[in-house]
Amino acid sequence: MNVLQIVTYGELKDGLSFSETARPSINATDILIKTKSAGLNPIDYKLVSGGLKDMVSLNLPSTIGFDVSGIIIEKGKEVSGFEVGDAVYARVPQNQMGTVAEYVAVDSTVVSKKPENISFEEAAGLPLVGLTSIQALERVGLKEGDRVLIHAGSGGVGSFAIQYAKTKGAYIYTTTSTKNVDWVKALGADRVIDYKKEDYKTIVSDLDIVFDTLGGDYTTDAFQVIKGGGRVTSITSVPDEETADMMGMEGYQLPENFSKLIAAKSATYKLTWMQPNGEQLDAILAMVKDEKIKPIIDKVYAFKDCIEAYLYVATGRAKGKVIINLSKAV
Ligand SMILES: NC(=O)c1ccc[n+]([C@@H]2O[C@H](COP(=O)([O-])OP(=O)(O)OC[C@H]3O[C@@H](n4cnc5c(N)ncnc54)[C@H](OP(=O)(O)O)[C@@H]3O)[C@@H](O)[C@H]2O)c1
Repeated sequence: MNVLQIVTYGELKDGLSFSETARPSINATDILIKTKSAGLNPIDYKLVSGGLKDMVSLNLPSTIGFDVSGIIIEKGKEVSGFEVGDAVYARVPQNQMGTVAEYVAVDSTVVSKKPENISFEEAAGLPLVGLTSIQALERVGLKEGDRVLIHAGSGGVGSFAIQYAKTKGAYIYTTTSTKNVDWVKALGADRVIDYKKEDYKTIVSDLDIVFDTLGGDYTTDAFQVIKGGGRVTSITSVPDEETADMMGMEGYQLPENFSKLIAAKSATYKLTWMQPNGEQLDAILAMVKDEKIKPIIDKVYAFKDCIEAYLYVATGRAKGKVIINLSKAV
């Protein structure tokens, strides 16, 4: 089958290569998907660069990609709830990475039926960003009436998180650049802050939650704009101790500046490393069916243009999701 593989760590153009491999075989709890579309994510190009070597070990060459939509063509003996011919979508676990491929084997517990009212391309853009948004916001107890700042509302995660926080009845501030203000507002943000023209730190204060999708100073500055007892939930910064424990980082201690910032505001700080989850994908299916969440697609590329697609994702300027259509892979 045709696949796109990470062959060496480095620049995208050197690190990625088209290849042909055997179809994956399945275990008793797996299903085999004939891929329709694969969704691309920043973690993919970060893996190519070698920037995540300490957290994710790969045996190269390794087929790239975590998000998939497609049709079940085979199922393991112990799989229940799915049949051959079902249209499904999933964020595959680390040990089954490789969705930019004509066929994908995945444990059925992390799979859900594809929402019928959206295309395969749209469905492939939902799993990783949807699960990340739900897990990061639920981890700090998002609830009705919370005043929340979601950074980078035009990104894959931000554009889902705004819509999800809206379903929870939150008041949403978000940051983006001038060209994206209007469509991000239409997703449900109450106040869109154009970072080209405004400094968000002069606009928001006493927030219940900051959802940090940018890292660096954005994480530490979040403590300036939360209220006493507020919550900072990040997906791009240092681990909290619970997450470090889950990731097997023995003896880990939060950096001293974070401990001080947390203590000064009696704040909660969490770093979420998203986990595949079929039940949460079922919840996303229901929200998409009810039109509470709509997929936001920036560009769709053909399989032959995968590397170009990754170069675009790596610019950091994507407006929602970037998708590979594998229906015509050869
Ligand atoms: N921990 C986890 O499990 C996990 C899961 C998912 C993602 N992540 C990480 O979270 C980050 C975001 O992921 P993503 O998929 O949303 O990325 P993405 O889709 O590539 O984000 C691109 C968006 O970021 C916006 N942006 C860039 N700089 C900005 C700034 N200074 N202020 C406001 N917006 C800005 C851009 O808007 P403009 O063009 O308008 O600037 C663009 O629309 C990545 O680093 C990713 O690796 C972590």
